[in-house]
Amino acid sequence: MLDFDVCVIGSLNMDLVVRAARIPHPGETLLGSAFARCPGGKGSNQAIAAALAGARTRLIGALGDDEHGRELRRALADHSVDDQCVGKVDAPTGVALITVADNGENAIVVAPGANSRVSVELVESCAPRIRSARICVAQLEIPLAAVRRGLEIARAAGATTVLNAAPFHERARDLLPWTDVLVVNAGEARALARAPHEVDAALARELWRDSGLRCVLVTLGSRGAVLADESGVEHLPAFRVEVVDTTGCGDAFVGAFAAAFARQVPMRRAALEGCAAGALAATRLGALAALPTRVEIERLLATAPA
Ligand code: RIB
Repeated sequence: MLDFDVCVIGSLNMDLVVRAARIPHPGETLLGSAFARCPGGKGSNQAIAAALAGARTRLIGALGDDEHGRELRRALADHSVDDQCVGKVDAPTGVALITVADNGENAIVVAPGANSRVSVELVESCAPRIRSARICVAQLEIPLAAVRRGLEIARAAGATTVLNAAPFHERARDLLPWTDVLVVNAGEARALARAPHEVDAALARELWRDSGLRCVLVTLGSRGAVLADESGVEHLPAFRVEVVDTTGCGDAFVGAFAAAFARQVPMRRAALEGCAAGALAATRLGALAALPTRVEIERLLATAPA
């Protein structure tokens, strides 16, 4: 029985965020301004984004037995994300050091800690829970072998698999045979396609055709997104918003897309919901704190031409 809509397999990090006028150059020290500590990690952000967008959601991942771990677990509970498959391991909880510039851009370094302990065995022990969700979502902040096993289990059970190939990894291509929907940003798309040029319709189509995927979604930030599937390639224009911080916009996109797709709306509509969620996330500081609710997503969508 499908008692869950979305099962996310991925990372949890405590985000340590500093605002600065700009991103520092290598070797440079800058004096920043506001500091914030908030739950994050691509897996956790995407799971919470899906839950806020209305999906019954669970997360598979790992935390350390420390204060960061307890805070991250509370954040999952506060957003009704099932954490029964979030293991407690003998390693510190993952940490992300994030600089957010005044123009909204960011630079992130992650110390994976407990995330690197998400093993094939842990994923296999959660197999019944993966099988009981309509959509399985994964990213690349945990070991690739664990991601691959999760996608395999979900695929074999007939679930739709969504891979957000972020951060980019040279061996991301190896996961495509178990992927239905690939979500990447422009840099990741270029790296995957080994293309030096800007992302355009031809590159998205090439990625879709060469990898045998059901759909490729390339997020382009303030330029919207490109959707490539069997019906062709379409550029979805961006929603116009005041950008404050782009951290977690990709996660907002993936979570809202997965929640919408789990409701069995057409791919294009699900992608539009993802775009709206990503745009809303850019209007607020932080990753988790910026994730929008389904009501906010619907409201923004209502302002756009169909
Ligand atoms: O995508 C944003 C996330 O990337 C942050 O929350 C940080 O933890 C890193 O994983």
